[in-house]
Amino acid sequence: MPEPVLIHQGKVRNVYDVGMGMLWLESTDRISAFDIVLADTIPRKGEVLNDVSAHHLRMAEQGGIKTHYVDRVGKNTMLVYKLDMIPVEVIVRGYLYGSAWDRYKKGEFRLPAGTEPRKGARFSTPMVEFTTKLEASDRPVTIDEILRNGWMTTEELRYVTDAALHVHQLVAEGAALGGILLADEKLEFGRNAQLAKVPILGDEVGTPDSSRFWDALLYAENFETGRDQPSFDKQYVRDFLLHKRGWDEQRPPAGTHLTEPLLTPEVVESTTAKYLEAMERIMGRHNLIGANS
Ligand SMILES: Nc1ncnc2c1ncn2[C@@H]1O[C@H](COP(=O)(O)OP(=O)(O)OP(=O)(O)O)[C@@H](O)[C@H]1O
Ligand SMILES: [Mg+2]
Repeated sequence: MPEPVLIHQGKVRNVYDVGMGMLWLESTDRISAFDIVLADTIPRKGEVLNDVSAHHLRMAEQGGIKTHYVDRVGKNTMLVYKLDMIPVEVIVRGYLYGSAWDRYKKGEFRLPAGTEPRKGARFSTPMVEFTTKLEASDRPVTIDEILRNGWMTTEELRYVTDAALHVHQLVAEGAALGGILLADEKLEFGRNAQLAKVPILGDEVGTPDSSRFWDALLYAENFETGRDQPSFDKQYVRDFLLHKRGWDEQRPPAGTHLTEPLLTPEVVESTTAKYLEAMERIMGRHNLIGANS
């Protein structure tokens, strides 16, 4: 096998070209908050991302969706088919929250019919949106813009929308068994004509970094009182930076890579514990099934 060549270093993952039309996706223990990469690392975070993503990619394959997944080749690393990525991120939303809620308040977001117009409300039916991938900050794009720019054909758009809703349903059902609500998630698709005529599901799927997970037991009370729904993963880190490191007043610009650690051992430990808990709750049942088959 040729020497792996590092071709991309993201906020969390390293991508290596390993030849023969394949890549290694390595999930590291790096963590970002507010789009700022911390100098601190979270032990075992990378392995959680790798395993949870592999789990969901296999689940999607079993559901008849073509994915880039080939094999899990190390604790932190997955072998995938190299795709020509479509420059649009696919967002599936099950709840009115985050930027969708902000846009709704400004009159810029249409609710699915029959949805209660309140923060955290469950949509009557999940919906798909698209955002740009190549610009500095994610911006919603219309179907018109996607077609006009040639980012996807009408057929690809239709396929990607259906596949994204299907993946969302599979991930949400699996998470629900562990008492976790999937609020929304980001998916990416790419092309590889040798593998399939239709767009192929790539990148990471259903990880705490690409999805918003909530604790099902806390949802109703937070919804009733209008409080924020704590996200399952980085909440400790975000709260600590906001309230103990003054980031609510002032913080480095998005995209900064910090060089000095900021977290306490307790925050790091609790965050590792949260990622592990998410993994166990999401994969628990499937792990048992896997062990018997
Ligand atoms: N099968 C694939 N073939 C080619 N590129 C892929 C494939 N799967 C994922 N990618 C791309 O690999 C990169 C993964 O890197 P990573 O997610 O760490 O960084 P990023 O998305 O560029 O930046 P960010 O730090 O904001 O996530 C992404 O650009 C993703 O689109
Ligand atoms: Mg990414």
